[in-house]
Amino acid sequence: MSRKRKPTYILPPGETPTALDLRVLDFQERGFIVPPRRLILNDEQIAGIRRAAEVNTGILDMLEGVIEEGMTTGEIDRLVHDYTIRHGGIPAPLNYEGFPKSCCTSLNEVVCHGIPSDEEELLDGDILNVDVTTIVDGYYADASRMFCIGNVEPPLQHLVTTAKECLDIGAAAAKPWGFVGDIGRAIAEHAHRAGFTVVRDLCGHGVGLQFHDDPDVDHYDTGHKGMLLVPGMVFTIEPMINMGTWRVFIDEEDGWTVVTDDEQPSAQWEHTFLMTENGVEALSW
Ligand code: MF3
Ligand code: CO
Ligand code: CO
Repeated sequence: MSRKRKPTYILPPGETPTALDLRVLDFQERGFIVPPRRLILNDEQIAGIRRAAEVNTGILDMLEGVIEEGMTTGEIDRLVHDYTIRHGGIPAPLNYEGFPKSCCTSLNEVVCHGIPSDEEELLDGDILNVDVTTIVDGYYADASRMFCIGNVEPPLQHLVTTAKECLDIGAAAAKPWGFVGDIGRAIAEHAHRAGFTVVRDLCGHGVGLQFHDDPDVDHYDTGHKGMLLVPGMVFTIEPMINMGTWRVFIDEEDGWTVVTDDEQPSAQWEHTFLMTENGVEALSW
């Protein structure tokens, strides 16, 4: 049996504990899962992530103006790459664990991690997720949006708007001194009420100092538990909401593309959030 070791909150030697430190240590003492101290970011680190998020948001805004029927996802990839470089950033997906492109483009039944291609053309009625992550001065911001191509059928529209609501509701449920599990609980409730399902195999994640960090942010109900949410933590919420089954598989040919088992459509939105004393602040938008 393998169990994940509980992270330990350790004060840097010689530093006087702050009120925040003492409060985290008290939770730790009482047996709760607390973040390691490196996940509580300082002002300089947060400012760096804000700069990355500004470029990242600029990319998605630029795409809003150009994505249309007849375009290929390969063209979208080149636009993302060139915009990122021109604004002093690095596209984090490129060569990340062997990923070959600068962003993920996930069309219809593709849940996430779709690889942009010059062979893949956007058609009337398609729904597309573009997921971009930008590195600026070593700091990361990660966000994705849905793009509706031409006339999208009302049930598909509903899936897209529900997925966005799930992101907003999950963010609203994330409270300082609450737990990561509160996020997925709120998301799953909303998705199920709309008749949709929530992908379980992929999660949101700590982000900022690296692409993927602790904690895992599940989007399904794991209960009012999991890692304590402490002001200064930065993480993504990125629910993948399916029309049919929540089950997914990975394309064996490319090793990346995540597809719904029943090949029914899936929608996803993602933002990078900073936990504050009063709830989350979206750093990307
Ligand atoms: N941006 C994705 C996320 O939200 C990760 C993509 S990894 C890649 O976590 F290699 F496919 F780019
Ligand atoms: Co992410
Ligand atoms: Co992402």
